[in-house]
Amino acid sequence: QDDQFKKVISHAKEYGYVFQSSEIYDGLSAVYDYAQNGAELKKNIRDYWWKAMVQMNENIVGIDAAIFMHPTTWKASGHVDAFNDPLIDNKDSKKRYRADVLIEDYCAKIEAKIDKEVAKAEKRFGDAFNKEEFVTTNPRVLGYQEKINNTLSRMAKSLENEDLADVKALIEELEIADPLTGSKNWTDVKQFNLMFGTKLGASAENAMDLYLRPETAQGIFVNFLNVQKTGRMKIPFGIAQTGKAFRNEIVARQFIFRMREFEQMEMQFFIKPGTQQEWYEHWKETRLKWHLSLGMGEDNYRFHDHEKLAHYADAAADIEFKFPFGFKELEGIHSRTDFDLSQHEKFSGKKLQYFDPEENKSYVPYVLETSIGLDRMFLAVFSNSLQEEALENGTTRTVLKLPSVLAPIKAAVLPLVKKDGLPDVARNIIEDLKWDFNVVYDEKDAVGRRYRRQDANGTPFCITVDHDTLEDNTVTIRHRDSMEQERVKIEDLRDIIKKEVDV
Ligand code: GAP
Repeated sequence: QDDQFKKVISHAKEYGYVFQSSEIYDGLSAVYDYAQNGAELKKNIRDYWWKAMVQMNENIVGIDAAIFMHPTTWKASGHVDAFNDPLIDNKDSKKRYRADVLIEDYCAKIEAKIDKEVAKAEKRFGDAFNKEEFVTTNPRVLGYQEKINNTLSRMAKSLENEDLADVKALIEELEIADPLTGSKNWTDVKQFNLMFGTKLGASAENAMDLYLRPETAQGIFVNFLNVQKTGRMKIPFGIAQTGKAFRNEIVARQFIFRMREFEQMEMQFFIKPGTQQEWYEHWKETRLKWHLSLGMGEDNYRFHDHEKLAHYADAAADIEFKFPFGFKELEGIHSRTDFDLSQHEKFSGKKLQYFDPEENKSYVPYVLETSIGLDRMFLAVFSNSLQEEALENGTTRTVLKLPSVLAPIKAAVLPLVKKDGLPDVARNIIEDLKWDFNVVYDEKDAVGRRYRRQDANGTPFCITVDHDTLEDNTVTIRHRDSMEQERVKIEDLRDIIKKEVDV
């Protein structure tokens, strides 16, 4: 698992997908830059989401609100008072960790022990092995499970009661070690607000304290009435947007999974109070379908229904994805009631109500939210696509099997040799295709090497120009996943590529 994750990170760097930010200055932790291929992949994911959410839905429109918002926004939303994480320092490493994440990691280690027991038993019993029965009866496994349950419920209770001393006691009792030094030298746990502060205004006295937004959703709530009126929207309707959000996350060990500067793709769906249950089910199902449409394997997704709810929600579920380090949250679907709009009414003194012509009355709409991290989706797609394949001739190939619609480069055009006019023909093909697709030219190295390079880059098609092309205007097109090659007419290339990369 760890190895696979390391491969993902180094492949992302080697093939121009993700770099550590400010690398020449040794980087900035939990901040990353998207490189030439990464920026394309990220854009394609964003476009795929926007198309499904905005373009395909008559009753959903998109906006692009500012990152800076009036500071009262965050009082109204609850982020000033409730957007905290419990932090604990380790004296030896002088590092600061999120206490809840340390405890979750500890539980994950115990879970790994359960997996080991299961694997051992499976080996021993062979075909007769019944996993369900084993994990519900084996005393050792039951003991482990009890330990996990007790630990998590005690932590949840302490956090609910804001009893940070007990969180610290729990970490010490369980002898949880600092991942860097292994030491158990913990100091006090503190609450820490995750929002980044900054100042607006030139002179120090008049400057206004601002926050960088920790979610894009509030930009939608404060614009609710403007959009509803100018777009003459009728409930139920949605407002979508994508954009940067900032959180001063403390534990940042999982590459682009948890970043300090990241991008969200959110949609708030405004509905009649009382209909939230049906819309909650609707959006859970619709969003899962969107994920499955990319063909990354049904088994890699699961729902996790929340028992402990955020301050704004009356129901919430995550769509979890199987990352290289296990199932983790990829997207959240939240039934937010009228919490946000009512709070903004209260704090702004402005009415944020909708006049419902059918009911002949005004009300504050309820909201159903879908919220996905673009970077996290990037990691899901990238890590799932990276594969090592054993070939028939005994060698292996590294191939990035990105869904074609998302691939940064759709085709590479390769002249077989650098002479006899083949490069000119290849260039002409590029001139023609580049109006519709991102395509590249590559003439360096033997053609087999070039195929491998494009495989590792995730390019779905390689188009090879050879001497026969000069005679009959045909080329060889090679498919990344099957490695099959066919001979096709140059004039058919556009349709062949389009068929595979269009949604
Ligand atoms: N408006 C609701 C909201 O922001 P959230 O569960 O805090 O809810 C939604 O965040 C999604 O944003 C998450 O499911 C995750 O994909 C992404 N996300 C949150 N924090 C992140 C971080 N530090 N780095 C990368 N993605 C993050």
